[in-house]
Amino acid sequence: MHKPFGAWEDSNRSANPSLWEVSDPARRHVLRLTMGGAAAALYGALGAGCSPPRAGPGTARHAELPRLGFTGVPPSRADALVVPPGYVAEVIAPWGEPVGIVGAMPAWRPDASNTAADQARQLGMHHDGLQYVPLDGSRRGLLVINHEYTDDGLLFTDGMAAWSAAKTAKSQAAHGISVVEVALDGGRWQLVRPSRHARRITADSPVVLSGPAAGHPLMRTAHDPEGRVVRGTLNNCASGLTPWGTVLVGEENFAFYFRGGDARGADQRRWGLRSEGWYPWWTTDERFDAGRHPNEFHRFGWIVEIDPLDPASPPVKRTALGRAAHEGAWVAVTRDGRAVVYSGEDAAFESIYKFVSRDRIAAGGARANRTLLDHGTLYVARFDADGRGRWLPLVHGQGPLTPASGFADQGEVVVKARQASDLLGATRMDRPEWLAIDPRSGSVYCTLTNNRARGTEGRPGADAANPRAGNTMGHIVRWREGEDEGGDFDATAFRWEHFVLAGDPANERPEARGRIEGDFFGCPDGLAFDPRGLLWIQTDVHASQMHRGEFVRLGNNQMLACDVATGEVRRFLTGPVNAEVTGAAFTPDATTLFVDIQHPGEAPADRADPADPTRWSRWPDGERAQRPRSATVAIRRLDGGPIGS
Ligand code: FEO
Ligand code: CA
Ligand code: CA
Repeated sequence: MHKPFGAWEDSNRSANPSLWEVSDPARRHVLRLTMGGAAAALYGALGAGCSPPRAGPGTARHAELPRLGFTGVPPSRADALVVPPGYVAEVIAPWGEPVGIVGAMPAWRPDASNTAADQARQLGMHHDGLQYVPLDGSRRGLLVINHEYTDDGLLFTDGMAAWSAAKTAKSQAAHGISVVEVALDGGRWQLVRPSRHARRITADSPVVLSGPAAGHPLMRTAHDPEGRVVRGTLNNCASGLTPWGTVLVGEENFAFYFRGGDARGADQRRWGLRSEGWYPWWTTDERFDAGRHPNEFHRFGWIVEIDPLDPASPPVKRTALGRAAHEGAWVAVTRDGRAVVYSGEDAAFESIYKFVSRDRIAAGGARANRTLLDHGTLYVARFDADGRGRWLPLVHGQGPLTPASGFADQGEVVVKARQASDLLGATRMDRPEWLAIDPRSGSVYCTLTNNRARGTEGRPGADAANPRAGNTMGHIVRWREGEDEGGDFDATAFRWEHFVLAGDPANERPEARGRIEGDFFGCPDGLAFDPRGLLWIQTDVHASQMHRGEFVRLGNNQMLACDVATGEVRRFLTGPVNAEVTGAAFTPDATTLFVDIQHPGEAPADRADPADPTRWSRWPDGERAQRPRSATVAIRRLDGGPIGS
């Protein structure tokens, strides 16, 4: 999704050398955590029928990592999804297909004439994070697919014209999350329809509030005087699977859905509330007029927990994890079995958070852990210039977070997490997107996708963790927890380094040259370890950029595999024109990779022209396409072997 930013200027400031670049493999080896395998064992004990990402520290050594074993693909400008020789990619879940709710499977209409009621039973638009939840190992499972936002130029036959309550309803119905059942049949993945698991959650579904902000005066509205149930979740970007079988979903660019008017206050402006919202929902759904309903604005920007195995369970906004433009959330486990949730706030000059649960993860799946994420300690990260870092507690009554500073209680601290982080001196990063935890080393990786406003007038300049002014290409930072070897995920100190500075090595602008061992890329966004230990990187160069200047040689957005033992990066996939490649979920045996292709054919001005919706792309429907569609794709090796190696 496009992020507005101000004008930027080039800078002669030289980038700090990356620790990755200056350190040798032995040095990198020293930085590896050597924590015990108790938490990894816990994953196996909990199960809930799932095979969650092994976020807990393991004991395997890098020497056991699989090597990159595929032929890399070149940059591409084709309106096609390209995978290496020996692989096949098949579209299985595009926008508009019925998810398979029993008795409610309205057919997709390619001219976008489906109603709001139809859309609420079909896959939403603009797929982003996705998770595979096994029902029968690597042969049958659920896909939990986020629908980040909508292009209303594509969503309606006549685009944005004559906006109405019915259009608001359909736009809201195309947001949210889909749960679909998929099965491998005859070597091909297909939707299982109908399915008792099939479900849609939309921007109009009831979502329960829990944690310190539930019932708080800042959360009470005319529609919900008790402040305990929100209508809807929106801008659901990335997601993470928990060891207890639930999915954590971010609510990212929520501020753009609200109209602020000219009287918006400093607190609202700190959260990016604009005079006019990006969507005209407020014209027919007054909840989104923050001038009239200021507290409704507080009810978005949370991590939402979903139990995909129980279609009747309401999603829950976990306010203890703090309010932010959350990209997503990813769980690690301490040696004694507590959950640690990492989350970045994808906005320029915002921060990275972690939450450490008070209680241990209980055996028994989602039901046994229904309050786990309501109690614990929230922290925000400060990256120091000496390669060390601190987790600063966002705890009411500690440090400056007192009534004298405007924080009445912990509920107000989590609602105003940005203001609290400002007071604590958190490091303001270059748009933290996904995080991934290396199951072998325990190192935590985070993509900083770009921030070309860094160093521009009135904005923060380069710092140790964000070393490039005019950072158009982004970077990846990683850290290990604790002051020294042997730290655990609940540590309040860490040691960090740059894993890679992204960009084309031939870039004429020194600040944007990449320092990558292998195939170049820009604007890293999606990031995930597969079950075998390869790190996967996905990119998001916006359509308004990718056909110009220093972005041209990058080609379409892409997905690459990285061997973290050697640092080698190899291009695995290139997406269709003006599409983002996002969402990465593997079957437990690593023989299938599910990927989302988001906004193929996105117009550089963000909204498609309804008179010419296929101007940029006809993917995935080709010649018969009346408009491009975001879609989930299943990728397999022709010989059935593990992906990437
Ligand atoms: Fe939704 Fe920051 O990507
Ligand atoms: Ca993203
Ligand atoms: Ca992005």
